[in-house]
Amino acid sequence: MDTWLPALPLLLSLLLGLALRTQACDLLDYCRPPRICPNFTHISTNQKYEERLYEPSVWMCTTEEGIDSRAVAEASIRLINFRNYHSWVKGVQINPHTWPSLVSVNIVENRLELSLCWMVPPGVTVSGYRQVTVKTIPRTAMFVRSFSGIPTFENSGLNALRLMEDLLSDGKRFDRTVFFRASYDSPFGIIFFKHNEIWIPKA
Ligand SMILES: *[C@@H]1O[C@H](CO)[C@@H](O)[C@H](O)[C@H]1NC(C)=O
Repeated sequence: MDTWLPALPLLLSLLLGLALRTQACDLLDYCRPPRICPNFTHISTNQKYEERLYEPSVWMCTTEEGIDSRAVAEASIRLINFRNYHSWVKGVQINPHTWPSLVSVNIVENRLELSLCWMVPPGVTVSGYRQVTVKTIPRTAMFVRSFSGIPTFENSGLNALRLMEDLLSDGKRFDRTVFFRASYDSPFGIIFFKHNEIWIPKA
C-alpha cells in the first residue's frame, strides 16, 4: 500500500494532464490548419455522443429540391459559383478550406428539399446573391454523434435516428424538427477522413 502513495501525485498529474490535453484538443484531427471550422467547447462526452457548445458562425446556404447526391452536387456548384462571384466580381476572397459541410433536410409542401451550408470564414463580409443566402447560426449547444464512411442519406438518417433514441433514453431535450449532417470531405474528392457527424440542436 505504502509504495503506491508516492505514485499518487504523479498519477494525478498524468490524469489532469490528459484532461487538459483533451480540452485543448477541440481542434479536431480532421480540422487542422489550413482547415477552418467553427469554434466550440466540449460540454460533455459519453460513449454514444458528445455535447458541444458552438460559438456563433456565419454560413452561406442554398437549397435544392430532392435528397440525393445529384442535389448535393448541384448545391455545391452553386456555392462554388457564389465564392467565385465574390472573388472575381467583388474582389472578396472566401477561403475555401472551411469545414464542415452542413446538410439538412426540410419538408416544403410535401416535397423534400435539402439545404447545403458552408461556413463563411471569420473576418469576411458577404451578402446573399441569387439562390445563395447568408445566415448566422447563433451560439448553440449541439448533440453530436460521429460516424465513418461515405455519408449517404440512408446512413445519415440511421445515425440521426440512433442519436435521437439515445437522447430520448437519457432524457435529453432536443430540437425534433431538424438535424444536420456535418461532413469533412468534399463530395467531389477522394475520401480522406471518412469522418461525419450528426448534429442535433439542444432544446
Ligand atoms: C475561433 O477563435 C479564435 C480565437 O478567438 C479566433 O481567432 C477565430 O477567428 C475563431 N474562429 C472562428 C471560425 O470563429
